[in-house]
Amino acid sequence: MKFAKWICAPLDTGSAAVVFKKSFAAENVSRAIIKVSGLGTYEARINGQKIGRQVLTPGWTSYEHRVQYQTVDITEQIKENNTIAIGVGPGWAVGAANYHHETKLYAERVCAVAELELTYSDGRVEYIYTDESWDACSSEVTFSDIYDGETIDKTAEEISYGKAVLSPKSFNLVEQVGADIVENDVISPVTLIITPKGERVIDFGQNMTGYVSLSIKGKRGERVVISHAEVLDKDGNFYNGNYRSAKNILTFVLSGDEDSFKPTYSFQGFRYIRLDEYPDIPIDLGAFRAIAVHSDMRRTGHFVCGDAKINQLYHNIIWGQKSNYLDIPTDCPQRDERLGWTGDTQVFCRVAGINYDTRRFFEKWLGELRLEQEESGAVRGVCPERFNSYHTRISAGWGDVATIAPFTLYELYGEKHFLEDNFELMRRWVEYQHSAGSEEFLWLGGTHYGDWLAHDSGEDSYEGATSADLIASAFFYHSADLLVRAGKILGKDMSEYETLRDNVRRRFREFFMKDGMPVGDPSDLGKPLAPEARHGMTQTAITLILHFGLCEESEKEALTERLVELIELFGGRMSTGFLGTPYILHALSDNGRNDVAYKLFFNEDNPSWLYSVNKGATTMWEHWNSIKDDGSFWSDAMNSFNHYAYGCVGDWMYGKICGVQIAEGGEGYSKLNIAPHPCARLGFARCSIDTVRGRLESAWYCSGENVKLEFVIPEGTEACITLPDGRCETVTGGSHCYTVAASDI
Ligand code: BGC
Repeated sequence: MKFAKWICAPLDTGSAAVVFKKSFAAENVSRAIIKVSGLGTYEARINGQKIGRQVLTPGWTSYEHRVQYQTVDITEQIKENNTIAIGVGPGWAVGAANYHHETKLYAERVCAVAELELTYSDGRVEYIYTDESWDACSSEVTFSDIYDGETIDKTAEEISYGKAVLSPKSFNLVEQVGADIVENDVISPVTLIITPKGERVIDFGQNMTGYVSLSIKGKRGERVVISHAEVLDKDGNFYNGNYRSAKNILTFVLSGDEDSFKPTYSFQGFRYIRLDEYPDIPIDLGAFRAIAVHSDMRRTGHFVCGDAKINQLYHNIIWGQKSNYLDIPTDCPQRDERLGWTGDTQVFCRVAGINYDTRRFFEKWLGELRLEQEESGAVRGVCPERFNSYHTRISAGWGDVATIAPFTLYELYGEKHFLEDNFELMRRWVEYQHSAGSEEFLWLGGTHYGDWLAHDSGEDSYEGATSADLIASAFFYHSADLLVRAGKILGKDMSEYETLRDNVRRRFREFFMKDGMPVGDPSDLGKPLAPEARHGMTQTAITLILHFGLCEESEKEALTERLVELIELFGGRMSTGFLGTPYILHALSDNGRNDVAYKLFFNEDNPSWLYSVNKGATTMWEHWNSIKDDGSFWSDAMNSFNHYAYGCVGDWMYGKICGVQIAEGGEGYSKLNIAPHPCARLGFARCSIDTVRGRLESAWYCSGENVKLEFVIPEGTEACITLPDGRCETVTGGSHCYTVAASDI
């Protein structure tokens, strides 16, 4: 933008939205392009019509470094006399955007910037841009906050604040890099419930992120007040204690005519709404909608099988992604958090990139990660991170998003720029790990989140029983390994980092393992453990050792056997948290115990994936047992019903049930290993992935004495197919069908 200036209102308007306006005449315009942005969140209109299809613009970036602007062609909307109006609500920049509920994190007041380029039919070009000639006035949005909700008052008179003034702060503008944020699914209510407490609650049947829309005609000044919730309590009453300080309240004040309401500057995470106030007229369910809002990503992956519960689990994984890929990858969309937690992101990014084309989405967020990486190379728990005087931790498994996400994106899409753009991010993170530990080549000490929410140190433990030093050193090795692989792909001399990686592996094995086994006493399984008592004889420790390649080939069998024993010791259940869960089923399947992987996968007792499905979940939960066996909830302090992390199992569903795995050096699905694991309980399974090389399909179904397998391989892709009876075949492109005996599965 050449001329535009950041403008704001001449007075503090608190949490109300401000509208910046400019009228102009224009005749014979052949082309009109507007570039526009604002902080917190803005909506621009020309002659009353919304500009562009995006919502919640400009999205959330590391605003102190860069703010995106949106470019829209508005030629069709230009008339002889025009008014541009940019409404701006507090959004992430001025409203609350962290769990300390601090406000004004990036700016004191909402502000806007825009430049309209008008090309006339005679070739003349004219610019209209934001400056002190614009008017500032109030709007019908008298309150807005990302966490607390929005008040829309259709009776509010427009108040002029006078001319806009130059904003004391201006921000670095960049053309939009991320995916568009758009309205997606529109969901009708399923039912109106009168709860035991006598409250009126509407159920949309799906937990989601977005907002409610309502069309209504009542008396002027009457109000509709709406509270949101993800679940009902065990008695069927409305419950949203888990939102913590986030109020999530919508207040609509009626004009007396036909009104349409929906929030413009904020969003909510919910399945249910409670009508706290409603005019004295019959409730017309048909007038309510829930609109799901997320980043626009092309759906690329599908999975279906013959078991309704597993299909529901897959549905919940997809909705976990839809709900939490709203411009940045968030932990959850409802409470006073909704933050770009780096650990959650690294855990889920692989399956996310199979389900949807996440390239644009991650190009942007990885940009934020690069901008916020500290001098030391450290990557924090959250990105973008903004607190007044506080930082999230630098933790193993969280900061490792710096290596895991770029490498995963490269593998899935085959685009080298994910490695080129992020090589320094990766390298500096590994250097940080190298410098962080109290002993060379190990990461001992530090403040880690551990195997977050694992059950092996008691259900109420946050950090699990696995030694934080072991986890940190294992991830150090994994990150160094990914860095070396990335560097070699880019043709760099990686000998220095190869030596570092090998030293980390050697020291890990000396320090944490004895006779090919991690050290520790599992007799305390499930009991609360002090941090210094955490050890290596856990499901997560063995899983990381097997999956990251910290063991020798000859040790794998004994390690796998021990992993199976630990599972048995824990009642045939998983005791893994955020860091062990993504890999435990892979570790079992890759080491000859797919039978145990299926056992865990089909388990229905807490902790398990189907536990939440049985409790009626429509998205993934934060805790394995966010609703406990007796129907009570996990503590309000931390209990989200829309946390995608455990949805990482989707990667195993595509990769092992349907057997589709990218082979070493097979970036962008150019080389595959296909080895499905049919099982009688599922009856059939089918997945399809629209890869960058074309559609890939893998399906099998049980048919009497036989199992039929069908594969569709993209042209030019080399696939090494291993059938359940041990037969192997390498094929390229086209359809391939096989039959094996049911006794072989
Ligand atoms: C978030 C998590 C996150 C964690 C850090 C929580 O409050 O919701 O998902 O990773 O903090 O351990």
